[in-house]
Amino acid sequence: MPYAHITGWGMSVPEPVLTNDDLAKIVDTNDAWIRERTGIRERHIARASDFPSTLGTDAALKALSVANLRATDLDLIICTTSTPEHLFPATACLIQDQLGASKAGAFDLLAACTGFIYAVNMAAQSIRSGAIKSALVIGTETLSRFVNWEDRNTCILFGDGAGAFVLQASDQPGGVLATVMRSDGSGSNLLTLPAGGSRHPATEATIREGQHYIFMDGREVFRFATRVMASSTEEVLKLAGLTKDDISVIIPHQANSRIIDAAARGLKLPIERFVVNVDRYGNTSTASIPIATVEAVEKGRVKAGEKVVFVGFGAGLTWGALVAEWTGPLPTPRKVNVGRDRLWGRIRSILHRIERFLEGIIWGRRA
Ligand code: ACO
Repeated sequence: MPYAHITGWGMSVPEPVLTNDDLAKIVDTNDAWIRERTGIRERHIARASDFPSTLGTDAALKALSVANLRATDLDLIICTTSTPEHLFPATACLIQDQLGASKAGAFDLLAACTGFIYAVNMAAQSIRSGAIKSALVIGTETLSRFVNWEDRNTCILFGDGAGAFVLQASDQPGGVLATVMRSDGSGSNLLTLPAGGSRHPATEATIREGQHYIFMDGREVFRFATRVMASSTEEVLKLAGLTKDDISVIIPHQANSRIIDAAARGLKLPIERFVVNVDRYGNTSTASIPIATVEAVEKGRVKAGEKVVFVGFGAGLTWGALVAEWTGPLPTPRKVNVGRDRLWGRIRSILHRIERFLEGIIWGRRA
């Protein structure tokens, strides 16, 4: 049975930065309160030209570059996002088109902020089964488009960005070792974007009542999060036959530094074992774990052969943890050039449109 190795990683955040002082000009809040209660100092906010697919494509190209893999070699693209560009088509298909990944299946996976853990597990299981050889997993968000900028309880928390992993099959032991995925839909009302779906389609009333913004019961979500971060980490370690001492770092979902502190206390581990960058990005939902991973790898906190735990929670309610032996890029024969590959992606996309148009004419004549 092949092993599923994480061989590429990349991130992309929009340039504009919104500081706590900037927020204090919009809503009744202040830097001291936000930092003390959440650990957040600033977050990146999408420009009008940034979308989950464009940020996700940038992160994906960087991950492919690290893995030395062509987009055309990909078998599968899973995009996990809480802020899809449309109800359909899947944001994964928009990214597939921008990459020109002509042989890849593509779909979206929704498990809110836990989505990246779920998606990496799905990709890893597909590789482990022998069905595919390579997969791209992307977590990408423009949460700023769904935040009520008049609600100080939520607008201070979120940021925009994307992160991506490439997974590849290898006979060498390692890669994704074990995963725990959990859910509890009885808490679905605690964190929700109520309208815009088929239960409450957009109407004048839903807009007037602010039903298209994120609604959150912060205290309840906080209580739930502190409970499951430690328990699912313990559970996944047990499943993998490992102990806390085998783990070099824990990369948690970046929602609130107090939640991460509570997880460290629950696990009786020093906070230094956790990767924390919520101060500079806020909560980027599905993108927070891969963004934190890229920074940790670049700072030398994650090295080949070390074991890493990813742990998260989110709306649904969902939560989960995944333990992996970090691989680093597999040796492959070709260096990828991000700029050149982006251009080739565009060219392949245009050629596919022409091909589809011509096929339409041919099949139209036959019909
Ligand atoms: N600035 C100043 N004061 C504020 C602000 C603000 N931005 N926001 C709330 N307050 C006030 C409240 O009105 C309240 O005042 P009151 O006592 O007069 O009523 C007071 O501060 C305390 O409010 P709490 O809600 O009790 O504050 P708490 O310490 O719980 O912190 C927070 C709130 C940061 C939202 C916290 O509950 C939290 O982090 N919850 C988890 C949120 C989370 O992780 N969400 C993401 C989940 S992942 C996903 O799927 C998207």
